[in-house]
Amino acid sequence: MRLKGKVAIVTGGGSGLGRAMCVRLAAEGARVVAADLNIAAARDTVGPIVAAGGEAVAMQGDVASREDVARIAADTLAQYGAIDVLVNNAGIVGQFVKTAEVSDESWDRVLNVNLKSVFLFCRQVIPQMVQQGGGVIINIASTAGVLATAAGIEYTAAKHAVVGMTREIAYEYGQQNIRAVAIAPGIIMTPMVASIPQEFLDASADYQKMLRAPAGRAGQPEEVAAVVAFLASDDASFIHGSTVAVDGGYTSF
Ligand SMILES: NC(=O)c1ccc[n+]([C@@H]2O[C@H](COP(=O)([O-])OP(=O)(O)OC[C@H]3O[C@@H](n4cnc5c(N)ncnc54)[C@H](O)[C@@H]3O)[C@@H](O)[C@H]2O)c1
Repeated sequence: MRLKGKVAIVTGGGSGLGRAMCVRLAAEGARVVAADLNIAAARDTVGPIVAAGGEAVAMQGDVASREDVARIAADTLAQYGAIDVLVNNAGIVGQFVKTAEVSDESWDRVLNVNLKSVFLFCRQVIPQMVQQGGGVIINIASTAGVLATAAGIEYTAAKHAVVGMTREIAYEYGQQNIRAVAIAPGIIMTPMVASIPQEFLDASADYQKMLRAPAGRAGQPEEVAAVVAFLASDDASFIHGSTVAVDGGYTSF
């Protein structure tokens, strides 16, 4: 119960990593807002948490919309009275093609959902955290935030920028007791990965490298959620601005 009474917003809380984070943070005592474009999915996350005696609520919104971000933050404050932890997790994949084939539409969509959203949410929530005396911001980057991968330039650009923004927020607000940290997950078995055709994975150098990495397998959402719970807690009190690899060793060789 490291997070007893803390209020945590998890974007993209309706699926995959976000769902596992909501479950884990609630299990550690947090009151959780599962925010998602897909409200039915967010409700499916919240139902079992509440049934198990936890506290959680689903909220609908597009993380790339300034209005929706402001509304989710306001509704969280109205519901729970504080915002202690923000997990910027919602994200989408790009086209998985080389740079010369990337469309304007994919560039704009991926940069808006994976990058602008993080800026919008941080800008919205930081004044509240400063006023409260602190908070934790956890940004979900990717292996593609530290290396080139087949995910493509729009995804790689967004995730590298998420790593940089995390450092910037830590630099600007660390001494006001806001800890900003990023996580770079490797390949994790979520609906996002399941949507990639198996023949593409088999032919992918990234997937083959994952099989040769120290863990030699894809990760499970719970393995990322456990690190989110640690980073959100005071156990991580001296970790500022870092990007924690949760990738089975993928980036270690
Ligand atoms: N799964 C992996 O292997 C992996 C690896 C590295 C990084 N990541 C990152 O982890 C995060 C979560 O990925 P996942 O695999 O759980 O994906 P997922 O597709 O299973 O879940 C993403 C969730 O985000 C929601 N979402 C999408 N666009 C949104 C928007 N505009 N506003 C609000 N919600 C929105 C979706 O409805 C969905 O519920 C992403 O940022 C992704 O880039 C995933």
